[in-house]
Amino acid sequence: MERALIILKPDAVQRGLIGPIISRIEQRGLKIQGLKLMQVDESLARKHYGEHEGKPFFNGLVSYITSAPVVVLVVAGKAGTVEMIRTMVGATNPAKAAPGTIRGDFGVEIGRNLIHASDSPESGERETAIFFSAAELIADWGRATDAWIYE
Ligand code: RTP
Ligand code: MG
Repeated sequence: MERALIILKPDAVQRGLIGPIISRIEQRGLKIQGLKLMQVDESLARKHYGEHEGKPFFNGLVSYITSAPVVVLVVAGKAGTVEMIRTMVGATNPAKAAPGTIRGDFGVEIGRNLIHASDSPESGERETAIFFSAAELIADWGRATDAWIYE
């Protein structure tokens, strides 16, 4: 199994897009291992986006992600799942994201791009540990449809 941390950013929550975005993840056949509504504080935001510290957009990014509640999920599947989720999310700039992707269908600007998804299986593990305690995750629950999703 491989997993990604997904954040439905404040704009997604404010615009009532929690349901439509999570529906896409469910409909794809991916499995949710953790899910919660939370307010990200500055120290968590700086830790999560540490790789971007010093870049011109960093302070704005921290302000944006801490400005209102977010929904965070851990989403799992077989090898290749993290890349598949990034494809579903679309290009970082929604103006350039393909139609059919989450950013390409719901957004117009890079600073309001609705969703974060881990960019590698390693980031998925690192970010999952930042946002969820072990007790908040159910890593291996049986789903009746699994045999109809995976051969
Ligand atoms: P994310 O980490 O949020 O999933 O997005 P990403 O991988 O597609 O893009 P990344 O390069 O990691 O950038 C992180 C977030 O920073 C904001 N950003 N703004 N104004 C800008 O030039 C700019 N560049 C990046 C976006 O919110 C982006 O999602
Ligand atoms: Mg990123």
